Amino acid sequence: MSVQIIRDRASLKAAVASFRQDGARVALVPTMGALHAGHMALIEAARRPGVRVVASIFVNPKQFGPNEDLARYPRREAGDTRMLNDAGCDLLWAPSVEEMYPEGFATTVSVSGVSEGLDGAERPGHFDGVATVVTKLFNQVGCDVAYFGEKDFQQLAVIRRMVADLDMAVEVVGVPTQREDDGLALSSRNVYLLPEERERAVALPRVLGVAARAIGRGDDAAAALADARATLESAGFAVDYVALADAETLTLDPAPDRPRRLLAAARLGNTRLIDNIAVELG
Ligand code: PAJ
Repeated sequence: MSVQIIRDRASLKAAVASFRQDGARVALVPTMGALHAGHMALIEAARRPGVRVVASIFVNPKQFGPNEDLARYPRREAGDTRMLNDAGCDLLWAPSVEEMYPEGFATTVSVSGVSEGLDGAERPGHFDGVATVVTKLFNQVGCDVAYFGEKDFQQLAVIRRMVADLDMAVEVVGVPTQREDDGLALSSRNVYLLPEERERAVALPRVLGVAARAIGRGDDAAAALADARATLESAGFAVDYVALADAETLTLDPAPDRPRRLLAAARLGNTRLIDNIAVELG
């Protein structure tokens, strides 16, 4: 069976109702398309006996800042559809901007605290856009479970907070970051990198690995973060942040007995890359 492509809410409702009639649980994998093996790992994780997998592709204007890459964000629905089909996805929900945000749309879902630092500080309004569209996707699809990548670690934390705070009946599952052989996290934005930038990009996961091990064995965190920043700058990155945060609340300077995460965002030329890694005590 090939993946069903649906673009209006009424047809989506009917398709999901027929899944439910078969007694299936419904899993959602929200994406902005330009799919790669990172997205496919989410589809793979969602595929279970008795589960129908819905993927969404929607390049959400509300989560892009005025100077960001909305207009040039890669769009390739035909290739994406083939990949979803091969991966055994049951339904592709691909609404237009008008279908998602009809005339008069006026509501914003805003999660405070966890969304405010790091990428939230660098990209004002970004997580409001994410929380708003993810709320709508959950309501449109009526999913039981939804899959998100740890690649966007703050996004995952924001969505977990939102689901808990608003009593949303959706189980949120985080999936580990999928990487290229050299360690670079897969990202739809990697296509922007020039060949020479692509070579230098590997410094980002390497530096995070070195700093996470240093902090995990008890080295001074501030010094490890400063080293990481300096190494990235010498590799040609403009660094937005390299930060050690509580893995749940994303507050900085977490206690060592809490789960901790090292997160970074840095730009190579016109391309902004993010990555993160767990800090294991060791
Ligand atoms: P997008 O960037 O397309 O990512 C869709 C999902 O794929 C996210 O949950 C993201 O964390 C996950 N993902 C991306 N690269 C990954 C990788 N290398 N390994 C594992 N998972 C990866 O994130 C968004 O879209 C949007 O903000 C969205 C949630 C769809 C709301 O618009």
